[in-house]
Amino acid sequence: MHLLEQIKKYAHENASNVVAMRRHLHAHPELSYQEFETAAFITRQLKTLGLEPITMAGTGIVAEIRGKNPERKTIALRADIDALPIMEANNVAYKSSNNGVMHACGHDVHTSSLLGTAYILTAVKEKFEGTVRLIFQPGEEKHPGGATLMIKEGALNNPVPASIIGQHVFPLLPVGKIGFRTGKYMASSDEIYIRVIGKGGHGAAPELAIDPVVIASHLIIGLQQVISRNASPKKPSVLTFGKVVANGATNIIPDDVQLAGTFRTLDEEWRKEALKKIRVMAATLAESMGGKAEITISEGYPCLENNRELTERIRHDAEQYVGKENTVDIDITMGSEDFAYYSQVIPASFYRLGTRNEAKGITSYVHTPTFDIDEDALTIGPGLMAWMAVNELTR
Ligand code: NI
Repeated sequence: MHLLEQIKKYAHENASNVVAMRRHLHAHPELSYQEFETAAFITRQLKTLGLEPITMAGTGIVAEIRGKNPERKTIALRADIDALPIMEANNVAYKSSNNGVMHACGHDVHTSSLLGTAYILTAVKEKFEGTVRLIFQPGEEKHPGGATLMIKEGALNNPVPASIIGQHVFPLLPVGKIGFRTGKYMASSDEIYIRVIGKGGHGAAPELAIDPVVIASHLIIGLQQVISRNASPKKPSVLTFGKVVANGATNIIPDDVQLAGTFRTLDEEWRKEALKKIRVMAATLAESMGGKAEITISEGYPCLENNRELTERIRHDAEQYVGKENTVDIDITMGSEDFAYYSQVIPASFYRLGTRNEAKGITSYVHTPTFDIDEDALTIGPGLMAWMAVNELTR
């Protein structure tokens, strides 16, 4: 039997087990860096397969599946394992039993899918040469990002994998479809906090005060120029202030105003420059109006760059696995992902697993209380990733 057929056979044989694992994880979500039960569950599953998982970065897990001639080449597959602080609104048998915590970004799917991949690769390990490293990482949803911690603790060392592949659910893509994008794919994400300091006073006597509300209003409008006039129109970027706190009253000018926002772009050079411009413009604008601006920037995840050659290769694998008609191009997104950190170290590719099903009413976006997936996606994800892995090892 050809290896592709074997992988499909093992994927089929293990499909209900993968769904059961996904439902277990979905019912027992844990927040970033607190994934203790989740990590224990993953460890148990990997040991059942005869693997030797090791713990990293607190709740992260790495395990290797060694084929014939394991030193020949190593490639890595990654899943993230954490959940979000959201109260689940779905009425399903596997609804979250951890109040206020929910797998609303599909990390339960990524984890169970990679465990499914581990099952398949273990079953066919006599049929490939080299080593597949499985990386189950914590804290994708929270700075500094579990990926940085895993890299720091050596998840990409001894030996350095030739490439790394990540899979993510995608509620905009119908189940059965797989989405790819070469080159720049996801944005960097930095948090911007500005405290505008004026001088409080009576609302009826502004000449005796320095009104930070008016200054903050100018900043909100003025800083948009960084996007509209300084950024190249060919380079997407976005600046959004979603939080503005001015705690005065109808007749009270407050002492200060707090702004909090996010800056995102797909270009690392422009990112550095833009953050500088934001600092300078906020400070000088505030100063020109008699106030002061204290600017704090919390730098987040970098841009995610999908290695062109790797992405083309695994897309070709996907065409063989699900058919050419089921592999599609996807657009860039201004969302961000800590998988980007891996892409800064080794060739990386992050592709999307379609999970939408309008007929079944499964359309909610990630990070919402009604997010869910069509579990038919789990009949594809594990085998597809196994097929990509064995092909990468032969190249
Ligand atoms: Ni996610």
